[in-house]
Amino acid sequence: MSRQITLTDQLLAYLHKVSLREAEPLRRLREETARLPMAGMQISPDQGQFMALLVRLLGARRCLEIGTFTGYSSLAVALALPAEGRVVCCDVSEEYTAVARRAWAAAGVAEKIELHIAPARATCTATSASTSACCRSATASPWRGSAEMREPQ
Ligand SMILES: C[S@@+](CC[C@H](N)C(=O)[O-])C[C@H]1O[C@@H](n2cnc3c(N)ncnc32)[C@H](O)[C@@H]1O
Repeated sequence: MSRQITLTDQLLAYLHKVSLREAEPLRRLREETARLPMAGMQISPDQGQFMALLVRLLGARRCLEIGTFTGYSSLAVALALPAEGRVVCCDVSEEYTAVARRAWAAAGVAEKIELHIAPARATCTATSASTSACCRSATASPWRGSAEMREPQ
């Protein structure tokens, strides 16, 4: 017997209404991204909130993100990090990440984020050894829409 609950639009709206505490810069970025043709690549706001919770629970200081797009997840993580925390972001798109750079600057967290425009495999080889949490929302090829955050192996 299945014990799964279908996440209907109505249920999602309810969950967001009762549990989402989305910071203003995140809300603005989500609304800007919603106007783009590839908006479906963005993580959901509840996922961003959960990632921020994980960052705080782990006491993460250095985070690695594979697949940045317009910056929602990296912004959620950067806002949750302490002042000395850093996020290394990997993406291959100058176009998408230009939106991210503006959002990070507007939110006052640009100095916490180091963006690498290159295939993530190359960036990870150089940076993952000193990472305390990793968010992956793209694989080398093809990217996948799923995201995860984990402690490094
Ligand atoms: C699902 S989106 C990421 C969503 C993002 N985390 C967010 O919060 O909105 C996937 C991203 O991965 C990037 N990407 C695809 N292949 C890549 C690769 N080999 N290395 C780095 N980034 C890649 C794409 O340009 C795209 O911006």
